[in-house]
Order: sequence, then C-alpha cells, then structure tokens
Amino acid sequence: MENKTEEDKVSIIKVSALTCIDLDNSNLHQSAVLLKQACLDSGFFYVINHGISEELKDEAFEQSKKFFALPLEEKMKVLRNEKYRGYAPFHDSLLDPKNQFRGDYKEGFTIGFEGGKDGPHGDKPFHSPNIWPNSDVLPGWRETMEKYYQEALRVCKSIARIMALALDLDVDYFNTPEMLGNPIADMVLFHYEGKSDPSKGIYACGAHSDFGMMSLLATDGVMGLQICKDKDVMPQKWEYIPSLKGAYIVNLGDLLERWNNGYFKSTLHRVLGNGQDRYSIPFFLKPSHDCIIECLPNCQSENNLPKYIIYIQRSNVQRTSPHVTKQHMHT
Ligand code: OGA
Ligand code: NI
Repeated sequence: MENKTEEDKVSIIKVSALTCIDLDNSNLHQSAVLLKQACLDSGFFYVINHGISEELKDEAFEQSKKFFALPLEEKMKVLRNEKYRGYAPFHDSLLDPKNQFRGDYKEGFTIGFEGGKDGPHGDKPFHSPNIWPNSDVLPGWRETMEKYYQEALRVCKSIARIMALALDLDVDYFNTPEMLGNPIADMVLFHYEGKSDPSKGIYACGAHSDFGMMSLLATDGVMGLQICKDKDVMPQKWEYIPSLKGAYIVNLGDLLERWNNGYFKSTLHRVLGNGQDRYSIPFFLKPSHDCIIECLPNCQSENNLPKYIIYIQRSNVQRTSPHVTKQHMHT
C-alpha cells in the first residue's frame, strides 16, 4: 500500500504467538510434546499455573522499583562485586558491540545462588554470598527477593522435568544433585529507560542469546522484548513477544543448545525501549558448578556426531570432544 501514515506503520509490527505450557497439567507427556514443538519453532514459550502467586511477583516488582528509585549514591553502595552480585549502573553491559553504539539503556541488580564463603562451594568462581541494600533503607527487600528466588528456581526445576521428557530422557534426568543440586542461577532485576533507535545503535538491551540452560522471565507488561527466529536470514526479522498476564516467558540458553547437540535452539533476542520505563526480572538457570556439559547420549548418532566441545563450568576448561566438527564457545 502506498502513502502509509506513521500510524499505519506502527500497526504492522509483528507480534509472535507462543505456545503455552500448563505446569499444572498432570499429563507431563502431553506437555512435553507441546514444549518440544515450541523449542523447535522459536525456543520461547509461556508457562502458566506455575504456582508463583501474583502477590509475590507484584511485591518483587514493587521492591525492585523502590531500589532503582534510590539516589545513585545509595545504589553505588552495593555496586556489583567481582562475582557480579549487586548493582550494575546504566550502560554497564554491551551485549551486541557490532550494532550497539553505547551500552544497554538499563540498570540492574543481580542476586545469585546463596553459597556462603565458607560453604562447600565458597571458593568456586560463580558462588558467593549475595550483597543486599541496607534494610533500614529498604525494609523487607531481601526477604521478598529471597522468597521470589526460591520460587523461580522451583518453577525452573519443574520445567526441567518436562524438558527432559521432550528430549526423550528420564523425567528427572536434570534434577539430580550433580546437575541442578547447587545451580549457578542468577536472578536479575532490570530497569530500562528511554526510546531505542536501532538506526543509531541505541538499544534497551542489545541482541544476544542467553548463556545458560533456560531463562524464566517476568515483565511489568510494557512491550519491548523481541526475538529473531533465524539470525542468518538477512535482513533479520524481529517479532515482539507480548507479556501474558499470569504467565512467564521461558527461553532456552546456549548451554542447553550444546547439551542437545543443537537440536533445540538458543534464540537471538533483544529489548527495544518505547520511551516508557520498563521493569523485568529474568531468572537465569545454569547447572551446578561441577556439571560437565557434554552431548546428551540420545542426541548423537553415527550420522549426527557431537558438534560442540565439552564444556566444564568448573574451571572454564574446554575439553576436546572426540568428534568436534564446530567450535562454538561462549566465554
Ligand atoms: C536478558 C533479557 C529480557 C527482558 O536479560 O537476557 O533478554 O525483557 N532480558 O528484560
Ligand atoms: Ni536474554
């Protein structure tokens, strides 16, 4: 159509419909069929009936907003430490340096798996006690976040059961002490600001795929998240993923992609700001520190050899697999 008005252009923004997985469905095999299709199609899906109360989620968002509303000086008192726990100011991360002119237009706060300094995992690279804002300044903040963290982890573990079935594995394949017993799981509070302009390299969050096993995302409902189902098709096609009330958005990460030999994809995504403030809380699940990520036994055959090198989180060591055909390593 010729002579489109600005409004017409806005109305043709593509919105993607995602599969919805009901975590209350006792027929796990049925859920696994749906989940498998979603993982093959876009690597993104919704989960509903997850058991996290709206009240707890709202409280986490309220507390998150209170933190970001503090004066910068107060926020800088909990500046991220060497283990990346704590506050990360605006523009701290640059996920897509080829296309981004400046770091992400977001600030964040990271809360990780609580492994005390003197505990059995204390000296491992991604374990550390968390750091918290002063409880006189934000009463109840830590308690809310700790509760929400435990709930998000519980939901991820129940998705992992369906994921195992979708990969034709035993339902509790991932839910063992070695795999998800002491997971490296980070919950990050985000506050996005400003209007993105891809033509100027300005993004709320640059294009990336998530590193871990899977991510469980809650947003405040402000549009912004986009996915690109096939990063190799030029020009890249971006589709918005709307938030669905009561649902979480889940996506697969690079570790899972490697684990299943590239069968399920870790999909490229980004966030565009529309000028409104936007808050989100992703929860990034990675397996336990000592878990060795090597091609799952039933994702390889004579005609489908392991494509990735074995990844050992423990020491960040890459061990060469007997049949490496492609190196694909995130650091
Ligand atoms: C991320 C991410 C999306 C969002 O932090 O990896 O993709 O909506 N976030 O905050
Ligand atoms: Ni992401």
